[in-house]
Amino acid sequence: MMSDRKMVEQAKVYKKIAVIGLGYVGLPLALLLIGKGFRVLGIDLDQRKINALLAGSSYLTDVDKETVQAAMATGRLEPENGYSRLGEVDAIIICVPTPLTERGTPELSYLTQAAAELKPHLQKGQLVVLESSTYPGTTREVLLPMLEQSGMRAGTDFHLAYSPERVDPGNKVYSVQSIPKVISGLTAACRLQAEQLYGMVFDTVVPVSSLETAEMAKILENAYRLVNISFINELAMLSDLLGLDLWEVIEAAGTKPFGFNPFYPGPGIGGHCIPVDPSYLVWKLKQYGADSAFIALSGELNERMPRYVVEQLARLLAPRSLKETRIIVYGAAYKQDIGDYRESASIELLKWLRLAGVEAHYHDPFVPSLELEGERLYSVALNEQAIRSADAVVIATAHSEIPLALLLEHASIVYDTRNVTRGHSGKATIVRLGGGNG
Ligand SMILES: NC(=O)c1ccc[n+]([C@@H]2O[C@H](COP(=O)([O-])OP(=O)(O)OC[C@H]3O[C@@H](n4cnc5c(N)ncnc54)[C@H](O)[C@@H]3O)[C@@H](O)[C@H]2O)c1
Repeated sequence: MMSDRKMVEQAKVYKKIAVIGLGYVGLPLALLLIGKGFRVLGIDLDQRKINALLAGSSYLTDVDKETVQAAMATGRLEPENGYSRLGEVDAIIICVPTPLTERGTPELSYLTQAAAELKPHLQKGQLVVLESSTYPGTTREVLLPMLEQSGMRAGTDFHLAYSPERVDPGNKVYSVQSIPKVISGLTAACRLQAEQLYGMVFDTVVPVSSLETAEMAKILENAYRLVNISFINELAMLSDLLGLDLWEVIEAAGTKPFGFNPFYPGPGIGGHCIPVDPSYLVWKLKQYGADSAFIALSGELNERMPRYVVEQLARLLAPRSLKETRIIVYGAAYKQDIGDYRESASIELLKWLRLAGVEAHYHDPFVPSLELEGERLYSVALNEQAIRSADAVVIATAHSEIPLALLLEHASIVYDTRNVTRGHSGKATIVRLGGGNG
């Protein structure tokens, strides 16, 4: 009988790869594959994204248009809004969204839609890899049966793998290529196929023993951040009570060379990964009649944070009622230097401010407009006049280009949830979340 490795040695060479879902994950991956000399069929149902790529422009803040133009100029990147040419490729990588439904349960319809569209085009010998973040069991229990409806068997006719995506948009230190890639397969042969392909693209591949291990590794990474950030957010509120500057405390604790990883407070936990992925695990646990106390508590603390910021503002602005005030939130994106505001804590903050009767506005150089409770809001100008006319400015996202001197000179109150004002002064009253002067 042929060994798994022998099977792979005899496998065909990867030349053309399809990437399904050209968002924050799929587009950088497609561009990396182009950089490595592959042909790439980039599939997305959003025609505007396809048009943008064909026109050589970018719709992601951390992918510049020159990179897209260079990729298009190779003639090897083919953006498409349909699946009909999938038969041409050697491997198919799925990077579609995995958000939550309104009930907080896994929304797998993007994945099942992609699988349904893919199925009729699946060819013998193709490798299918899921990269979307999801609960342990998804690849085996959801994707596998759908693909096998094609009449082909995974592990023999085609190969099935899971490799969690770890891209960190806006991160200038860790590129997609340099972040180690965890790889798993339905069978050992599937994993070796994926290892072979990913080994040609990424600096480091980390094979693991099962699909579920790789799926759970991604959930662990994000649940770990959720729990720790929630804990530090709780400590921020408690430090305000104790009159201690938590930021300084973290800095001091961070000098311990082992056993301590610093996490930093903020107005809540944002993004569509850290607050979302742990809920996928919770959903899976419910099938076993189990729950995660840590994840549940973190969710509660996370929801508490924007309200805490509003309470702090109410205290700072007293005796005036919040109803008589105008507040500008600086930063709508969930983290610095990107334009993604999905699940951003700033959105929750804006909601709570509006609920308290505040005339709430936002400014974000990366988010020109956003949807809030069915209403379209636009980023307001942040000039001297606008700052002066606000009763307070809340720094919710620490974009690198924040006009700190302007804010501190002209604002009446600056409530800083990101510690960017530490060591700075101005005419404004400055209060930092967790700074001990709350
Ligand atoms: N953004 C991140 O920082 C990040 C990091 C790690 C993992 N992830 C995970 O990666 C996955 C993708 O996230 P994202 O941020 O790239 O999402 P995204 O919304 O930016 O991009 C997904 C793309 O898929 C397209 N799409 C949806 N359904 C489709 C279908 N059936 N066929 C073809 N295209 C389809 C959408 O039009 C969109 O362009 C999610 O599971 C997410 O949790 C994201």
